Order: sequence, then structure tokens, then C-alpha cells
Amino acid sequence: MTKLNIGIIIGSTREGRVSPQVAEWIKGIADSRGDANYEIVDIADYKLPFLGTTDGSEPGIAAWNEKLFSLDGFVFVAQEYNHSISGALKNAIDFAREAWNNKAAGIVSYGSTGGARAAEHLRGIMGELMIADVRVHPTLSLFTDFENYTTFKPAELHLTNVNAMLDQVIAWSGALLTLRK
Ligand SMILES: Cc1cc2nc3c(=O)[nH]c(=O)nc-3n(C[C@H](O)[C@H](O)[C@H](O)COP(=O)(O)O)c2cc1C
Repeated sequence: MTKLNIGIIIGSTREGRVSPQVAEWIKGIADSRGDANYEIVDIADYKLPFLGTTDGSEPGIAAWNEKLFSLDGFVFVAQEYNHSISGALKNAIDFAREAWNNKAAGIVSYGSTGGARAAEHLRGIMGELMIADVRVHPTLSLFTDFENYTTFKPAELHLTNVNAMLDQVIAWSGALLTLRK
């Protein structure tokens, strides 16, 4: 059986962002499972304009959709910005529609309260895009899982949660594949 393709989406594009460290950590855990093809997908690489402010001909827009179409499921690395997700992530989400539909996703969030408020907003957005969001949701604290809010040093306990989240993403991504055929 061919393996599922799961994208670990970096949700922020901010200069000095910590999200790549979190994404690399998730990918390390995911790769050691050997149950899917995991890849990091960095929104910043696509240089998306602000939705609706151009004629839509930027190559990054098509490339972003193409990348999403190639994926069977997602793990969102979601950081909390003013009690929600980052503007960059929302903008990138808005740039696609069918490419999101009938796929599964997990969330790994961080912030002062584990990014919980951002993650709950993201769940609402996923409902509209017909993305099946899984229950298990690792929440990382800016206070205890990062040194000086910048160097990622995750507590051991998160490992179990990340694996449990990935178990659910893999199960639902596989099930939803049958809907898209
Ligand atoms: C504009 C802005 C708003 C923020 N608002 C919140 C917030 O409401 N709650 C929170 O826990 N952290 C908040 N933060 C802190 C971010 O979660 C923190 O800077 C985190 O490192 C951002 O992720 P990034 O480094 O990957 O961009 C905010 C940061 C910025 C830049």
C-alpha cells in the first residue's frame, strides 16, 4: 500500500519565528514512526500576496494549491496571535478550497496558554473547509517549553501526545482517501 503524504504546515512567517523548531521536532517524531511520508510545508516559501490584492497570477499561489492537493492530511503548527491564528496562516488557508476538502488534520499549538485559543479558532475554520480535525491536540507553553521564549526545549510528556495526534491523523487521512477517489 502506498504511504499517505502528510504536510506539517508552519503557520507563521514572522522574522525571528520559532515555528520551524517546532515543525522540525514534529517531523523527527513523525519520521521515526515510518507510517507516512511526512514533509514540512513552509508558507513563507510560497510568498503569497494578501488575498485579493493582486490578479492572482503569482506562481506561489498555484504552487501552494498544488502542494496542498498532493497531501492527504496535515499537521498545523499554530501559534497564538491575539487569541487567534496568525494572519499569515489565515491568508494561506483562504488561498485554497478544494485542496483542503475531505482531508484530516491535527494541531500542535503554542502560546502563553498553549495556543489553545488559536487552535479552537482553527477548528472552526477547518469545519468550513471540510477538514476533519482530530481530537488529540498537543499544547506547548511559551513559558515552560521554550527558553527565553525562543529556544524550543519541549517537555518529555508532549511526545506521547504528538504520537497520539499522529495516530488519529493517519487513521482519518486514510479513511478520507476513499471519499476523494
Ligand atoms: C502580534 C502578536 C500577537 C500575539 N498575541 C498572543 C496572544 O494573544 N496569546 C499568546 O499566547 N501569545 C501571543 N503572542 C506571542 C506569540 O505566540 C509568540 O511570539 C510566538 O513565538 C509566535 O510564534 P512564531 O514565533 O512562530 O511567530 C503574540 C505575538 C505577536 C507577534
